[in-house]
Amino acid sequence: MKRIGFFALIAAVLGCGAVMAASFEIPESVTMSASRFEGYTPKKGDVTFNHASHLQIPCADCHHTVPDTYTIESCMTEGCHDNIKTRGEVNSAYTAFHTTKDTTKSCVGCHRELKRNGPSDAPLTCNSCHIKE
Ligand code: HEC
Ligand code: HEC
Ligand code: HEC
Repeated sequence: MKRIGFFALIAAVLGCGAVMAASFEIPESVTMSASRFEGYTPKKGDVTFNHASHLQIPCADCHHTVPDTYTIESCMTEGCHDNIKTRGEVNSAYTAFHTTKDTTKSCVGCHRELKRNGPSDAPLTCNSCHIKE
């Protein structure tokens, strides 16, 4: 996997005097697919997320568990946005990426907000994110 950068996160935990440190290598691009869910046949093509076009956004806006756990995991990992069956709940994979109520974490939410605020190349049409093989 090609890496485009290296990012260190260091935070002092003042109360007990301990220092927590974590570092992450940033993958250039990540393929996101609902085929990871057993027994689920994706309706749409996989999505390629490219870090390079999002580096002006703070990591923790998207990787919102970092301040708590110092770890970065796949969005659809077990216990996170792992519900592929229903929409609307926080654990819904569909909602996490498409809700227009969350303009910082959701792909579509942020892209739509950008378009509203002026010209932007951030994609909004289904198949500009879901690329068919
Ligand atoms: C606009 C949202 C966004 C921003 C900003 C962002 N990332 Fe990501 N990052 C993602 C997505 C989406 C994935 C793919 C997650 C998945 O596989 O479900 C990802 C994956 C990763 C992974 C691989 C995780 C794994 O599955 O092993 C690392 C490491 C990572 N990002 C680090 C960073 C760092 C460090 C920053 C800040 C410099 C950053 N990212 C900024 C959205 C973002
Ligand atoms: C907080 C805002 C924000 C979030 C969240 C966000 N994006 Fe973007 N996205 C951007 C911006 C800014 C651009 C660059 C637009 C431009 O060049 O005018 C972009 C561009 C893109 C592009 C086109 C350029 C490229 O790299 O291919 C794709 C595809 C894309 N985003 C996918 C995603 C996906 C998938 C997610 C969710 C996992 C996501 N984005 C989440 C802000 C965001
Ligand atoms: C900004 C990027 C983006 C746009 C635009 C977008 N999606 Fe998604 N969508 C994602 C991501 C990321 C996932 C999770 C990865 C995956 O399953 O492909 C996803 C998952 C899905 C899923 C669940 C998985 C599957 O394939 O069955 C469906 C259904 C879906 N999207 C439909 C749509 C439809 C319909 C549109 C247009 C109205 C749309 N999406 C627009 C990023 C986007």
